[in-house]
Amino acid sequence: MATTIIDGKAISKQIRQELKQKTDTFQNETGTVPGLAFILVGENPASQVYVKMKGKACKEVGFYSVTKELPSDISQQELIKLIDAFNNDPKIHGILTQLPLPDHIDEAAVIESIDPKKDVDGFHPINVGKLLIGLDTFRPCTPAGIQELLIRSDIDPAGKHVVVVGRSNIVGKPIGNILIQKQKWANAVVTFCHTGAKDISYFTRQADILIAAVGRANVITADMVKKGVVVIDVGVNRVDAPSSEKGYKLVGDVDFESVKEVADAITPVPGGVGPMTIAMLLANTLQAAQEQVPVSE
Ligand code: GUN
Repeated sequence: MATTIIDGKAISKQIRQELKQKTDTFQNETGTVPGLAFILVGENPASQVYVKMKGKACKEVGFYSVTKELPSDISQQELIKLIDAFNNDPKIHGILTQLPLPDHIDEAAVIESIDPKKDVDGFHPINVGKLLIGLDTFRPCTPAGIQELLIRSDIDPAGKHVVVVGRSNIVGKPIGNILIQKQKWANAVVTFCHTGAKDISYFTRQADILIAAVGRANVITADMVKKGVVVIDVGVNRVDAPSSEKGYKLVGDVDFESVKEVADAITPVPGGVGPMTIAMLLANTLQAAQEQVPVSE
């Protein structure tokens, strides 16, 4: 059977079109435009690119968005003061502080200062707790995007063995917590593995669905997976490519060329999970606006 290349770019385009329609309806019913505030601290080039892309996506679906670019030496207190202003701004329904933050800032304190109702990243401990016990909440954007890719590719994780490589708060832990729930398009048996494992391949070889969120280029190779596996590659790694215009290219955590020969389905990098993250951020923001501004009778 030919390997399916899961086209995250096309799927995310479809979702963004659906969101545009839902946003128009919401606006007609409430007179409210969903608003998203971005906070970017310092000059991390990858963060700058991500925030720019997210702002552009907001415009396309008809959201209001504002980006606050702050110097890397801003104090934690000043940053939290700004977040608090957005917490109290009725035009803003979602707040996203792009991570990572500079070392002198306590990331956890910043995340906790965001009103959980506006926490469209789903990083606030209240929302993380809700997700863990299966209550409705904001699903963090990349994990939500992964689940949506599975749904729209008709790959039901129910009863399958999902192996997650990576244990970050942004991807690894929440995707496992989502797919383990006794809910539709979940109900999987989930194994988490990480750098503490003696032999990661012992676990990855057992995966029906492998989710690689390691952050290192091409570390999952064909000998580490079983035939027929579904592979979701979350990695975005820059590797040198002297012949390309930029001098680098983006690759995933999975050695795409070798693994695609044994997989039933696989996401490419770029064009797999990445575009889905942005689509789900938009979905979470519309959800936040709908919850904050209900349609009156
Ligand atoms: N840095 C990398 N991914 C993310 C994300 O999904 N949200 C935020 N706020 N920062 C990130």
